[in-house]
Amino acid sequence: MYKNTNLNLTSLEKLEEDNLIKKTISFVKDFFKGESSGHDFYHTMRVYRTAKQLAKIESKTKNVDITITLLASLLHDVDDFKVSPETDNEKSNAVKFLRENNISEENIKKIIKIIEDVSFVGKDSVTPSTLEGMIVQDADRLDALGAIGVGRAFAYGGKKGRVMYDPNVMPNLNMDETTYKNYDSTTINHFYEKLLLLEDLMNTSSGKEMARHRTEYTKNFLNEFLTEWNGEK
Ligand code: ADP
Ligand code: NI
Repeated sequence: MYKNTNLNLTSLEKLEEDNLIKKTISFVKDFFKGESSGHDFYHTMRVYRTAKQLAKIESKTKNVDITITLLASLLHDVDDFKVSPETDNEKSNAVKFLRENNISEENIKKIIKIIEDVSFVGKDSVTPSTLEGMIVQDADRLDALGAIGVGRAFAYGGKKGRVMYDPNVMPNLNMDETTYKNYDSTTINHFYEKLLLLEDLMNTSSGKEMARHRTEYTKNFLNEFLTEWNGEK
């Protein structure tokens, strides 16, 4: 039964053993069996761990509802249009799970709003209205950066049958949601179209700090890639 809001830091560790969190982890593990689009169980777990880390830091100075944050981080991709297009509108996989676990309708609403606002969709991307939403969005975006982010971008491109790079195809920096979702580009262009924009879009200061480090790594990778491409090294 859901009852704890605004948990303090000591109870954060206990939450690991919380049955509800455990149950949610095993629900997503089961849900993502066989998924290889980069939206897999381990992506969800990384987002969960990063969200927990950001929540820990942010809650030193602000009120953070840790349970809402962690549930939203774990459920953020179970109705994603790429994974489950038929439930994307209603977010029915998440809603069904939360209802079955007796989460109040008020809290379900909060969690669903976070999930609805989480995605990067070009210039139509949304800034979440709550700190919990900001944390989950930052955590999800951080997983698109750094070594993991580079790996995910190439895994995604490979799955879509895209070329790594084509110097004749320019990045499109002004995409709305529909264009972004249907756009067929190269994986290297994705770095310019999304990855390198994320640091400036971070909502929390703890997220921004992590993004700074991961963006630097991502830029170094990109420079190395283009240098090798041009036969300069
Ligand atoms: P998010 O879960 O953050 O909303 P997406 O659904 O946009 O991310 O994408 C999942 C992963 O695939 C991310 O690492 C993202 O950077 C990568 N990705 C998305 N679109 C492309 C693309 N066109 N080319 C290469 N990688 C992509
Ligand atoms: Ni995600």
